[in-house]
Amino acid sequence: MDAICAEPAVLIADNVTQPLDVTIAAQIVALLHDLCTRHKMATIYLSSSLPTLGQFGDRTAVLYQGRFVEQQAFAELLASPQADYTRKAIASVPRMWETAEGPLARRQAQGEAPLMKVENVHRTYRARKRGTFNTYSSVQAVCGVTLGIMPRENFGIVGESGCGKSTLTRLLAWLETPDSGSIVLNGTSLGTLSSRDLIRKRNEFQLLLQDPYNALPPRTTVGRMIEESLLIRGGIPRADLRKRVIAAMAEVGLGAEFYDQLPNALSTGERQRISIARALILDPKLLILDETLSALDQREQGRLIELFSKLQEKNDLTYVFISHDLAMVRKVCTRIAVMYLGEMVEIADSHDLFFDPQHPYTKALLSAAPTLEEKPFDPSDFLLEGEPPSPIDIPAGCSFASRCPKAFGRCRVETPTLVEHSPGRFAACHLLDGDQAQAAA
Ligand SMILES: Nc1ncnc2c1ncn2[C@@H]1O[C@H](COP(=O)(O)OP(=O)(O)OP(=O)(O)O)[C@@H](O)[C@H]1O
Ligand code: SF4
Ligand SMILES: [Mg+2]
Repeated sequence: MDAICAEPAVLIADNVTQPLDVTIAAQIVALLHDLCTRHKMATIYLSSSLPTLGQFGDRTAVLYQGRFVEQQAFAELLASPQADYTRKAIASVPRMWETAEGPLARRQAQGEAPLMKVENVHRTYRARKRGTFNTYSSVQAVCGVTLGIMPRENFGIVGESGCGKSTLTRLLAWLETPDSGSIVLNGTSLGTLSSRDLIRKRNEFQLLLQDPYNALPPRTTVGRMIEESLLIRGGIPRADLRKRVIAAMAEVGLGAEFYDQLPNALSTGERQRISIARALILDPKLLILDETLSALDQREQGRLIELFSKLQEKNDLTYVFISHDLAMVRKVCTRIAVMYLGEMVEIADSHDLFFDPQHPYTKALLSAAPTLEEKPFDPSDFLLEGEPPSPIDIPAGCSFASRCPKAFGRCRVETPTLVEHSPGRFAACHLLDGDQAQAAA
């Protein structure tokens, strides 16, 4: 608003949607379009994301190494890029809808039991009320999550910022304990284990975080860092440690020359490889990746996805990918759960979720994601208004009701439960109980 008060002839918007969730970014794009049309302003929109630029449509100039390498209408740029750099940039944009091709993980055998079973898990934090010393509010970060993660699958969890993804990750990794509910890994309820048994069990599941800079101690050499995991676990003769560490480094594509290096000289991708080697050396069954690929550029992301796939084949690994990058999740995950305000609102196979989403929030999330391809639904049908309600004050009824374009009377009083509407497809929405007639009324 500040920017348009002076009624400028030209508005310069520099990567303004980059730090935002896709749903909020879509609102800002619509607002900018509207303002520029009403105030007859020209807009110069700068972005490193081609799909984002595509939302503005008009002429596009491509800047490479300080020079404009070409300038065309956006549609023509896509259809016939002139510069080699533009061609590569277009090719590197992940496609979500172009192909119905399945993701990388193997399918499960019929009747196989889940590797991890999460049953009605809750986690609430206390947060001090603003302007007070000793009055607290309850932040409901995770509310009644139930799901099963199958062996060797790639399970994705998506949702807007603050919906509880990282809290759930910490619960899955048992770094925090749930207020209620249970998490069972390979038939053992983690809550029933003694501290000693829990340390042993921890080898089976490992958590990798987003920030490879803060995740690694800056004054410890790469070899020592990886070795530490083995030392804590014990049972490996000292003479074998170095050999084991170098083998784990080789597995993630780090040469032995990194062994004595400190992490500060390494690239983001190399640091993430160290974190992966630290986890892998313990022979885990389950890797939980909380935005692990978000800090990487497209090429490095692609290389790590390839590495994860190779390791899965070799070590029978199961992955949980937590991300707000829908294109990455589409590329990698067999099943996907959509989270909103601490709750799971839809769980389905990746293909079903993308091509036939059931929950209005899933549709909003998918239609807001900028892509170069045509979307299977009209984004304007699902454009969300406003931001999610505060997790301190979750309204009665469906937590999505305040933003849902399809909300009707029942939604504001009755909380929908996550129900299996067809085999393997779960959603929590009253519309799916045959309430469309009410919705239309
Ligand atoms: N230790 C804590 N104390 C108080 N509130 C917390 C704590 N950790 C998380 N929260 C709150 O719980 C909610 C869920 O946070 P969480 O970090 O799990 O979300 P997220 O989905 O991972 O978000 P992002 O995509 O931004 O990483 C937020 O409202 C957050 O402010
Ligand atoms: S229950 Fe109602 S408010 Fe909630 S998602 Fe369904 S239609 Fe929208
Ligand atoms: Mg998070």
